[in-house]
Amino acid sequence: MSNSKTINLVVFGIGNVGSTLIQQIQAAKKQLDQQQVAIRIPVVANSELAFYNEDGLTPTWDCDFQKFSVPYKLDEIINFVNSHQFQNLIAIDATASTDFVKNYVPLVENGFHIVSANKVANTLHYDFYKTLRNTLKKHNKSFLYETNVGAGLPIIETIKNLYGSGEKITKIRGVFSGSLSYIFNEFSEKAKPFSKVLKEASNLGLTEPDAREDLSGNDVARKLLILARELNLKAEFNQVSVESLVPKKLNGKTTLHQFKTRVKELDDPFQNRISTLSNDDVLRYVGELDVVNQTLEVKLVSEKKQSAIGQLRGADSIFEIFTESYGENPLVIQGAGAGKAVTARGLLSDVIKLSNQLN
Ligand SMILES: NC(=O)c1ccc[n+]([C@@H]2O[C@H](COP(=O)([O-])OP(=O)(O)OC[C@H]3O[C@@H](n4cnc5c(N)ncnc54)[C@H](OP(=O)(O)O)[C@@H]3O)[C@@H](O)[C@H]2O)c1
Repeated sequence: MSNSKTINLVVFGIGNVGSTLIQQIQAAKKQLDQQQVAIRIPVVANSELAFYNEDGLTPTWDCDFQKFSVPYKLDEIINFVNSHQFQNLIAIDATASTDFVKNYVPLVENGFHIVSANKVANTLHYDFYKTLRNTLKKHNKSFLYETNVGAGLPIIETIKNLYGSGEKITKIRGVFSGSLSYIFNEFSEKAKPFSKVLKEASNLGLTEPDAREDLSGNDVARKLLILARELNLKAEFNQVSVESLVPKKLNGKTTLHQFKTRVKELDDPFQNRISTLSNDDVLRYVGELDVVNQTLEVKLVSEKKQSAIGQLRGADSIFEIFTESYGENPLVIQGAGAGKAVTARGLLSDVIKLSNQLN
């Protein structure tokens, strides 16, 4: 393999997504060999501990992590990779941490590219968004984050390509959350109380442990903001108008336990809402970016059953991209928009995309 290259990954966050990514990299060795790419993971870390192995992880890395991981500081990881003169460094952010994002600029200044599943860096104040991009440019480094919106679906890349080629995008609209997709697809189809559907979604592992995080709409709002910024709109999170589905009386001041015991209080309001619909309509929780009027909205709407959004099933996400060339009929991207396997695969695709640009 004379032209082969070695990519060195430092994986931060070894929960659902991070550990699945490591597993997928190990299982993809044959395909990577064919592309003459070797991926070594010399360091993995969670919020407190790091495990170092200059030869890379073995298939029993999680046992090694249990036994040999040590408390760490970011500088120690940077010194470790520098002392081994590792090239083609990529930091993977598979955390959901706001604190970790503070490491992006120092990582880039110390030679790392960044591949992230964490939405925080792209949804903090616009000044940070700009500073990060200026730092990346100065150090000739890349930041890829396809999994921030729609997990493994190619949303960001499609929008970047359209926008970069001068296509005028007028609107992006869709169901961006797997859990809320499932909840309203089920609730609109079957005569079940809302609280029952919510419980089913939770049992399937689709919602956060506290389902109010999904129902608040904030996650959809973050995704919408990320898409808006791809189109060079200098929007901020507080400019997204969000219709929260959590009634004020059950909001964050109520404990999770209280919320769970009172969750049936959601049934009547949603039943009232659905009873106003015609037989042809269904409820969907959508994100909508109107580029022309520069508005970002997250809201519960009625949709025609026959429309692309109305026909959604299971926990799929859907993105409709309206542009000048596509006219009235939007470009539609649909599929599993959440889950550790598709998200980890999306991170790995970003790593491969990046590795194709590296020497
Ligand atoms: N799961 C999905 O379907 C999906 C889809 C798209 C995007 N994402 C995104 O992927 C990311 C990871 O999700 P997940 O489901 O894998 O989360 P998770 O299971 O909760 O794992 C999070 C990991 O991050 C670590 N961590 C937290 N703070 C850290 C810090 N400051 N420095 C280093 N590590 C830190 C945690 O370590 P400790 O155990 O020490 O806290 C844990 O190992 C999130 O940003 C999520 O929004 C997930």
